[in-house]
Amino acid sequence: MGAIKRGMSKDFYTNKTAVVTGGGRGIGLCIAKAFVQAGAGVVLAEIDEELGLKAESFLASDRAVFIRTDAGDEPSVQAMVKQAKARFGRIDFLIHNAAISKNVPLTELTYEAWRRVLDTGLSGAFLCAKHCAEPLKETGGAIVHIASTRALMSEPNTEAYSAAKGGLVALTHALSVSLGPQVRVHCLSPGWIDTTGYLHGSPSPWTLRPEDHACHPAGRVGRPEDIAEMVLYLCGPKAGFITGQNFVIDGGMTKKMIYPE
Ligand SMILES: NC(=O)c1ccc[n+]([C@@H]2O[C@H](COP(=O)([O-])OP(=O)(O)OC[C@H]3O[C@@H](n4cnc5c(N)ncnc54)[C@H](O)[C@@H]3O)[C@@H](O)[C@H]2O)c1
Repeated sequence: MGAIKRGMSKDFYTNKTAVVTGGGRGIGLCIAKAFVQAGAGVVLAEIDEELGLKAESFLASDRAVFIRTDAGDEPSVQAMVKQAKARFGRIDFLIHNAAISKNVPLTELTYEAWRRVLDTGLSGAFLCAKHCAEPLKETGGAIVHIASTRALMSEPNTEAYSAAKGGLVALTHALSVSLGPQVRVHCLSPGWIDTTGYLHGSPSPWTLRPEDHACHPAGRVGRPEDIAEMVLYLCGPKAGFITGQNFVIDGGMTKKMIYPE
């Protein structure tokens, strides 16, 4: 697990507050860790109580607080924002990272399952932005959506997840126009990110082979730190002229043509 390097942005983040949806494990937990290391307070807005409590222990900081939240449920998001403001007094950064997928053939994808994937991944971003908008305007903050390269390209049977991620890219530019100039809004589209090290000891879903690394133009599969570093850059003072954009972080995979030999 690579260390997150901060350097001169340390003072910028001190006493600021980040809300990270789905911060209980994986990329969200790594983003939360990066904010804590930078001196910020963090709300782990996580649906799974066990993961949320484990994440709190992992971060081992009295400025990292788990608030049980279903990002796809408006009363739950409203209650989280209220508690976050009560605890920290301000919200500077909103990272909508929570997502689920349901990869089944189209004819087997129920409308209920479709809606749940869209509720969590896309409507969750809308609800969090809606209820964090005023606090973020007050602090001149930033939003970062975690989408996916699947917003741009697909495997079969990924309609709901791809639609949620594609929607996030569009929601990003819509919000950047509506909330600017006080709030900048960004989107990151990760490729393959191996979240080992942020799974509380659960086995990694992948056993990485040399060819998994080698097929990437950058020579390796991604790490959660690759995403967390970019989140902090985009939230930081050096990114003041950037808003509304989607940044692909995939080791070059979406730039690689693949045709049969
Ligand atoms: N890991 C990858 O290779 C990869 C690639 C591209 C994009 N992404 C995106 O990055 C983000 C994080 O991925 P990950 O691999 O760490 O995922 P993960 O499944 O390991 O973690 C997601 C977290 O979100 C939580 N969550 C689920 N539904 C929620 C809800 N309604 N409200 C609040 N929390 C909820 C889960 O409990 C979990 O802790 C996701 O948006 C995912 O789509 C991941």
